Amino acid sequence: MLPLRITRAKFSLLMIVAILLAACAGAPAANAPAGAANTPAAGQAAAGSGNPISIGIAVAQTSNVALLGQEEVIGAKLAEKFFNDKGGVNGTLIKLNLQDTAGDEAGAINAFQNLINADVVGIVGPTLSQQAFAADPFAEKAGVPVMAPSNTAKGIPQIGKYISRVSAPIARVAPNAVAAALKINPNIKTVAVAFAQNDAFSKSETATFQQTITGTNGLTLATVQTFQTTDTDFTTQATNILNAKPELVIISGLATDGGNLIKQLRDLGYTGLIIGGNGVNTPNVFPVCQKECEGVLIAQAYSPELDTEINKQFVAAYTADQKKTPGQLTAQAFAGVQVLVEALQAVDKKSPIKDMKLADLRTALNDELLSGMKFQTPLGEISFDPEGEINQSQFYVAQIKMDADGKTGQFVYLK
Ligand code: ALA
Repeated sequence: MLPLRITRAKFSLLMIVAILLAACAGAPAANAPAGAANTPAAGQAAAGSGNPISIGIAVAQTSNVALLGQEEVIGAKLAEKFFNDKGGVNGTLIKLNLQDTAGDEAGAINAFQNLINADVVGIVGPTLSQQAFAADPFAEKAGVPVMAPSNTAKGIPQIGKYISRVSAPIARVAPNAVAAALKINPNIKTVAVAFAQNDAFSKSETATFQQTITGTNGLTLATVQTFQTTDTDFTTQATNILNAKPELVIISGLATDGGNLIKQLRDLGYTGLIIGGNGVNTPNVFPVCQKECEGVLIAQAYSPELDTEINKQFVAAYTADQKKTPGQLTAQAFAGVQVLVEALQAVDKKSPIKDMKLADLRTALNDELLSGMKFQTPLGEISFDPEGEINQSQFYVAQIKMDADGKTGQFVYLK
């Protein structure tokens, strides 16, 4: 029974206030950081009430691998602004949830777990294939689409049905560098390779390079040297390479170790051609090998010179921000966010995503990515096969040209 002093009208008013307060408590605050919820979000509506759509970015912002990951952060942030300026996903903005994977497997798993348990529709990451083989299975199990921005080892899309990549497999890209080296010096006969044996990508890349050498008439694989991505002294490997008297050395490692090996090889007197792999494909390698970076050949899955509207806009946005020309990793991270945004636009046109549960949206997004949809990206036109492997047709080779200061330089694209 109601206390006598509360009338029926006042009671109704109190009930309405109570219901409104309860509703407000349940709704996420408009300015809550993306992923702030500490409960699994799969049952929540994906993008109700004009909230931005959250996209996870899990790359290396710290550790040695940040030489690669920092370029990916720039690409992802450029894409966030670029596509939000164009209206986001049919009028709903996107918002990046950035998680630092650092350089190892545990960091990648931790970043992925944070994003899986947050409200992201998909994840762009991680930086290394070595990290992807450890972290991707968690996203696969949770049904969260992963768009690998730089994982180029064999077998990445095959990790699972939710795993795709915008980074062309190294077997498609690397042989172009050998062809370019032979064009520069048709007298190459003896080749040495070196690779980081604790890194999945470097092992995959060296396998491709070694097959290319042994499968090319007139070339001999004289020595295979190994190292660790944590090594700093490469005297043994460089000495063994010099003893083999090669005209071409091919290095598969990451930016710090690979850059240091290039430098020490030159310092010990090697004067022939050097091919650096995908792990040293960053201007951030310039301060590592310094003036000894000069002339290193690196195959590319991106060219800033590609004459398309989207690439011109991407290059202009990057140059305005960074005062230099973008490289492959930045373009791939941009493309990684782009394909998620454009696939979300397509999903939304079929069935408004504001009404979808997050788990259903994640699956619908993955299905859309794998539908054969074509994307006009700075990498050129791309699509994904049913396994999530990228279909891409344009590849390039660039040669490093260092500035007089020996610290800065550029990639000169070979014709
Ligand atoms: N392309 C390198 C990898 O796959 C960064 O690990």
